[in-house]
Formats: sequence, structure tokens, C-alpha cells
Amino acid sequence: MSTGKVSLVHEFDCSLGEGPHWDDVSQTLLFVDIFKAAVHRWNPTTNIRKSIYLPDSSIGAVVPRKKGGLVVAAAHRFAFVDEETGATETIHEVKQQSPESRFNDGKCDPAGRFWAGTMGLEIEPGKPKRNQGALYCLHKDQNVTRHVAPVDISNGLSWTNDQTVMYYCDSYRYCIDAYDYDVTTGSMSNPRVAYKFNTEGDEIPDGHCIDVDGNLWVAMFFGGKVHQIDPKVGQKIRTIKVSDVALKTTSTCFGGPNLDELYVTSSRNLSVNKVEGDTSGGLFKITGLGARGLPAYVYEG
Ligand code: BGC
Ligand code: CA
Repeated sequence: MSTGKVSLVHEFDCSLGEGPHWDDVSQTLLFVDIFKAAVHRWNPTTNIRKSIYLPDSSIGAVVPRKKGGLVVAAAHRFAFVDEETGATETIHEVKQQSPESRFNDGKCDPAGRFWAGTMGLEIEPGKPKRNQGALYCLHKDQNVTRHVAPVDISNGLSWTNDQTVMYYCDSYRYCIDAYDYDVTTGSMSNPRVAYKFNTEGDEIPDGHCIDVDGNLWVAMFFGGKVHQIDPKVGQKIRTIKVSDVALKTTSTCFGGPNLDELYVTSSRNLSVNKVEGDTSGGLFKITGLGARGLPAYVYEG
């Protein structure tokens, strides 16, 4: 089975790149840089990047809003962002488990709700204070509900194409949990472990996305790799090495004109000065995998 062709498509020097979202309408990639509180929109055809820097201390996730503009989960709030002016409007502030916790990864469900979760302050990368996060849902009427809590590192979210199952990764649980999903109400129930990762070594399962066959593509933080997992049978299908340098791979999404290119975000090796060949913090693209995603959902509120 092909392990694809990996290329570094843009040296963004992200402090902590996260939450890639392929915007099918404009054929551009949206993603964030958590600690720079930046929203990046990058056009792979022109290689032009447009960035907005929010007034928040951090940002975890961004998605397009169907009515226009963007929605973000930044620091402790859900907010609308005017992409032209950069102006923000708070929708809801979440009551945090701790004042230091912050939003991390997020994604829209098939009905257009925006889900995002929080995590505690990291003493060092991958080592947050425990039990200080939760998973939230921003409904289309702009109400916010809290679901899984407490969590350590709220990360990847994906839904099956038939909309009946939600996959969630609280990284420190070292597994992907599956929930029955009620797409009409946005409620999750019946948690069970869909895939259990090895806890030896220091790799942590991070963000993920789903392909048309229902397999997950899970970025491994500290691993510089992505695993393709079949969550229906709890088995690993293949592993794609992304980089030996950019080991902190944080999340994945399918993009490109045929939705068959896998984008992978990464985090800077903050403890070392940038040297020649240090691709950490870059954005990677993997082609030739023979896998494809569906268009990403957007916020419909
Ligand atoms: C977070 C990082 C964290 C990592 C651990 C990422 O999604 O943004 O802060 O260290 O997950 O897997
Ligand atoms: Ca992540």
C-alpha cells in the first residue's frame, strides 16, 4: 500500500499550527497558529497566504460561516470574525475548568454545528495540567452546550458519512472514542473505544479527519507521522512518515481539487533556534495515498 509522497508545501514557521480546514468553495486552506492567535488562509495555486491576527491570547480552530465570514474558537470564546477587517464579535464565552485553559482543535458536524474543546495550560508541549478541558458545541442558534468533561487535551473530531457516529480524541486517553451521534439534536451517547494506541514512547494521538471509506487519518504529536486507522474494526491500516524533524504533527484534513491530498499541520520545535532544514511548524501535503475525503462542513448559524 502506498505511503504517499510527502512535501513541505509552506514553511509557515507556525508556533503551533492546528485545525486545517479545506475550503472547497475557494479551494484554499484555512488553519490556525495557536500561540500567534493567527488565522491563515493559504491558496495552494498562487502560494499566497492571508493572515488575520486576533486580539485573543490564542486560537484553537477556525471554520467558515455559511452566511459569510469565519467562526473561531479562540482562548475561551466562540467568536465571529470579519475576514476583510479582522473585526471579531463574541458569540459566547465558555466557563473554563481553569482560567488558564484554552480552546484547542475544533470542527463542524454534518448539520453545521461547530464543535471545539479546551485543554489546560501546558507546562511543556504535550504536558498540560490534567482534567482542565471540556468539549463544547456551538449550535446553529448560537447556544453553547458542554459535552465531555473533564478532558485533558481535546483534539480530533470526525463524523461518519452516514452521520450516525462521532469520533473524538482526548489525546491523553491514547485512544479514539466512538459515540452514537444524533445529528438532529447534536447529542452524543454510548461512548466506546474505537482504537487504542500504544502508550509506550511519547507519541500522542492528536487531530484527525475521515476519508470516504470511513477510515481515520490521525496525526501523531511527537511522532512526525500519520496513522490511517479503521475505527470500525479497531485496526491500523498504514503509517505515513511525515517528517523526522517536524515531529509535532498536530492535525490533518483532505484538500485539493479532488479532495485526495492530505494536509498536515505541525508545531515549531520551540526549544531550538531555527536552523537550516528545520521544517517544524511547516505545513505538509501528502499525495498518492489513494484516499479521498468529503467536503468539510461549515458553520450554518
Ligand atoms: C495541542 C498541543 C498539544 C498537542 C498534544 C495539540 O492539539 O494544540 O498544545 O501539545 O495537541 O497532542
Ligand atoms: Ca490537534
